[in-house]
Amino acid sequence: MPNPTTTTKKPSPLSLLALHTLHFLVLCTWFSTSSAKATSYNVVDFGAKPDGATDATAAFLSAWNKACSSNKPAGIHVPQGRFLIARAVTFHGQCANRAISITIRGTLVAPSQYTFVGNSLYWLTFDQVSGVSIHGGVLDARGSFLWDCKYKATPNCPIGAATLGFTNSEHIVITGLTSLNSQLVHILINACHNVKMHGVKLMADGNSPNTDGIHVKFSTDVTILAPRIRTGDDCISVGPGCRNLWVEDVACGPGHGISIGSLGWDLDEPGVKNVTVRKATFSKTQNGFRIKSWGRPSSGFVEDVHFEHATMSDVQNPIIIDQHYCPFRNGCPSQASGVKISDISYKDIHGTSATQVAVKFDCSSEQPCERITLEDIRFTYKINKAPQALCNHAGGTTLGIVQPVSCF
Ligand SMILES: *[C@@H]1O[C@H](CO)[C@@H](O)[C@H](O)[C@H]1NC(C)=O
Repeated sequence: MPNPTTTTKKPSPLSLLALHTLHFLVLCTWFSTSSAKATSYNVVDFGAKPDGATDATAAFLSAWNKACSSNKPAGIHVPQGRFLIARAVTFHGQCANRAISITIRGTLVAPSQYTFVGNSLYWLTFDQVSGVSIHGGVLDARGSFLWDCKYKATPNCPIGAATLGFTNSEHIVITGLTSLNSQLVHILINACHNVKMHGVKLMADGNSPNTDGIHVKFSTDVTILAPRIRTGDDCISVGPGCRNLWVEDVACGPGHGISIGSLGWDLDEPGVKNVTVRKATFSKTQNGFRIKSWGRPSSGFVEDVHFEHATMSDVQNPIIIDQHYCPFRNGCPSQASGVKISDISYKDIHGTSATQVAVKFDCSSEQPCERITLEDIRFTYKINKAPQALCNHAGGTTLGIVQPVSCF
């Protein structure tokens, strides 16, 4: 075939454009055919039965091992139906490729006997992987059996497992995943870099113990977009060692709100820096935006945190910094936190407070909070009772209307 660019006739700009478009199309076709060639492994072909009763763990692991050892991009397909994953399972890297796409149409279910999974840290873990994405699917950890054990204060209830964990991993994408009835945290991101979550739905009973929605710790560049979370503990919680976390368009409630902390349990602890949460709605939650640290000595810190554009309805502690966290007064000798909190901004946040103290900055006597800014904050409490703000060792400035009147 003659090369069209060698034609002697000077090409018009339009035909040049057409030529570029052609090249682009050829390139696209090449990419899509090469990705079409990317092998996809269906868990059913490895013996998984969609009956919710036959343990599919071995089949899932076989599919993973194939995908992971493939030297080109690979897919794993989980069709409709219920697949029992009867024990804690880890999908290990490192893999021979950096693009494994897992598509889930059906539901993965945990066994009802919580002891099979409940003594592990996670039910499903991906460890040391790079370029793994999960699209769709339902994870049903059937945590209610364990919650019952805990409600009844039965001796020897296991702590429980997080439903899905990514550890020591990078370039992770999770879209459209639903997690139901986790035993503990729904999704846990630990020691990861570059994680993007979009449109996850996390649901557990509003009273279920320690069922945080998403917990992130020791991780950098994590983006969480449009999560819908109704659960028993924090909707999103941020542990030590997090940087560059972006959270946008959150629906939270029931739950305990969005929390940075608890921090400062360890004496030597990395801090939290550069966190933005924008556009959130909270409905009947325990907290709105919370920063919480143990009343113990620590090298930890929280800086450059921005909470903006939120609506809260009937929230107990809409804006709160609590540096005296010490449940049962146990293990907090001085009661003063070593965690330094600075450069925290709250902007365009309004709604109704379920308690009179709508804004509370209860900071550390040893490390006072510095440079807090409040801008366009409007809370109401009761018709004839104004909400209040309370400060302890906290300094900052206000802009625009701030109601309750600030206590700086
Ligand atoms: C803060 O984090 C965001 C992502 O959440 C990132 O785009 C930005 O560059 C970070 N800022 C700094 C100063 O690192």
